[in-house]
Amino acid sequence: MHWRPAVTLWLLLAAALGAPAAAAAAPRVEVTLFGEALCPYTAKWVTDTLAPLLKFDKEFSDIVDFKYVAWGNAHNTTTQGVQCQHGSNECSLNRVINCATHHYPDQAKWLPFVNCLESAPLRQMLEAVDECADKAGMDAGALHECAEGQQGEELEREAARQTDGLCPPHAYVPWVLVDGVPLGESFDALKLFICVAYTGNPKPAHCYDPPAAAASSAAAQLVLPGVGHVTRPTASA
Ligand SMILES: *[C@@H]1O[C@H](CO)[C@@H](O)[C@H](O)[C@H]1NC(C)=O
Repeated sequence: MHWRPAVTLWLLLAAALGAPAAAAAAPRVEVTLFGEALCPYTAKWVTDTLAPLLKFDKEFSDIVDFKYVAWGNAHNTTTQGVQCQHGSNECSLNRVINCATHHYPDQAKWLPFVNCLESAPLRQMLEAVDECADKAGMDAGALHECAEGQQGEELEREAARQTDGLCPPHAYVPWVLVDGVPLGESFDALKLFICVAYTGNPKPAHCYDPPAAAASSAAAQLVLPGVGHVTRPTASA
């Protein structure tokens, strides 16, 4: 056994000195949506809660990795095959979404597409695929080819596998996880959960917004459950 305490200590010291650089590269927060295209609550969550945060606030989009697993409450039976909660159009749309996130893994590309789709009236969502793809700079033909072909089926199988593998299992959709922890019915409090999960310092400026009811309060603070108020570090820190 040639354990070398001096070398170990040196490595520890080097790690400590390197700490500021490491802090700047705090890991991204993983937000995963287990949803289904034609569920009105999934659509509302994407357009009203998620998109405003990730589309228009670069501070959030830079620290979040967002995934959309489109399967939701669908199931697969030996007698009837894949059955989606809102019918076969939903199965098609789920495959389109899984194909879009697979072919265009950059969320800056696919999120506007999914937001556009989920903004369409539910009955016209399938017809909106081409227009939303065009707007997002995606190849609509390639999306259809994927969704209607073998790759679409494989991605569907994978989405089903991931959804069925959830522990605890999803109880409804949208079922949202932040760093693997399900938000349950608090899915609209997404911003707070991201702010709490993110270990970088400072956090995005809007993490320190005072609660709406106390908007006149002087100091910008983040209220962490079990921790209390955290004041935003000053820029010079
Ligand atoms: C559904 O079940 C069939 C037959 O067992 C299987 O071939 C197919 O891959 C399954 N699809 C999904 C999405 O799980």
